[in-house]
Amino acid sequence: AAVSLWGGRFSGGPADALAALSVSTHFDWRLALHDLAGSRAHARVLHAAGLLDDATLAAMLDALERLRADVESGAFVADPADEDVHTALERGLIERAGPEVGGRLRAGRSRNDQIATLGRMYLREHARRVAGLVLDVVDALTAQAREHLGVPMPGRTHLQHAQPVLLSHHLLAHAWALLRDVDRFRDWDVRAGVSPYGSGALAGSSLGLDPEAVATDLGFGAAVENSIDGTASRDYAAEFAFVAAMVAVDVSRLAEEVILWATKEFSFITLDDAYSTGSSIMPQKKNPDVAELARGKAGRLVGDLAGLMTTLKGLPLAYNRDLQEDKEPVFDAVDTLELLLPAFSGMVATLAFDTGRLASLAPQGFSLATDVAEWLVRQGVPFRVAHEVAGACVRRCEERGIELWDLTDADLAEVSEHLTPGVREVLSVEGSLASRAGKGGTAPARVAEQLDRVVAVAREA
Ligand code: ARG
Repeated sequence: AAVSLWGGRFSGGPADALAALSVSTHFDWRLALHDLAGSRAHARVLHAAGLLDDATLAAMLDALERLRADVESGAFVADPADEDVHTALERGLIERAGPEVGGRLRAGRSRNDQIATLGRMYLREHARRVAGLVLDVVDALTAQAREHLGVPMPGRTHLQHAQPVLLSHHLLAHAWALLRDVDRFRDWDVRAGVSPYGSGALAGSSLGLDPEAVATDLGFGAAVENSIDGTASRDYAAEFAFVAAMVAVDVSRLAEEVILWATKEFSFITLDDAYSTGSSIMPQKKNPDVAELARGKAGRLVGDLAGLMTTLKGLPLAYNRDLQEDKEPVFDAVDTLELLLPAFSGMVATLAFDTGRLASLAPQGFSLATDVAEWLVRQGVPFRVAHEVAGACVRRCEERGIELWDLTDADLAEVSEHLTPGVREVLSVEGSLASRAGKGGTAPARVAEQLDRVVAVAREA
């Protein structure tokens, strides 16, 4: 029969169907070691408040330590009759310390303040781990950017050829987005690093316990200011789910490019065999499954966020059992990113770029037309006119099936008197790239500096 935490008032145990609905040990067991750390800290504040004598504290800590070892070794596991990780560990404590000692630990705490604290502890640890894995993706990007410094590629808007850019500039654009995600985890940690332990069920404790001491013991900067907020709020979980989803979305955007780049039509990259898959029927196939799974799992992480937000939206203060639903979405987000990111960084690190093809496509699709217009502006022509003139050059080329640099001096002069042969200095990818020399631009010198800054920011993160 279930070891009930509320036997006194009830005449019988729960219906089987309720017990089956209620049980959460299959997903909250991963909080067991955090729960035990909370119990040790709580035992110490009960002792400090004069509610446990020295011998009882020692017996309790000893039993908690034996329980910890049994949890770690797998000798102690949840029983089907245990409702949640907290219930199960209380049973384990009582089995080891006896009811006289073990039955004292629950004073002044509730599963409501426990779970709110343990959730924060768990996510703070995993936020650090996930941020480290995101930095591994950044490292893979910066290594590729360094290796390919100086390689031009077609820069796109609307997926159409727009202007030439450096491949490194494009790769570093992804790196900056990921570095902001790492930064988001860091500022999230400041808000999440406040402990609800001591809030009790919702109103705090009458037993003279010191929430700040528990907070310090568990690695938090402070205890919460409001016990209702401490037990009822889950914005820490929702914000974590958002940052996790943002990581997945940022990774997914790069994944989509990898998928396109690996097509026959683009042929910008070859995926390493170790990071691609074959087909069971088509012998020639080499598929970008890592990138596709990244793109697919981004949907799943957005779903985790949306599900959690929807759970929270109608809840009155303080604790409601709906809040048990806070865990699976964030655990899923953690598990998914911890699985995905190592594969993704490996894929990025091993991409082989066809630099010759990238360079030869960079000026195609009239991507130097803006350079012609801006050259005219430097000659004193108003931009409105310059835009018209450059557009007329493009039309003429399209009609004749040639590129801008194929126009003869006579063709140019016919389009506009302003188009002297000097315009040829910008009708090259090198000239176009070098001219975009302001901060954040794609000029080779700026991109080399930018790479150093990405590496420095990643090292600090
Ligand atoms: N298992 C619950 C949760 O995950 C914590 C228990 C609080 N239950 C309660 N009936 N007050 O949210």
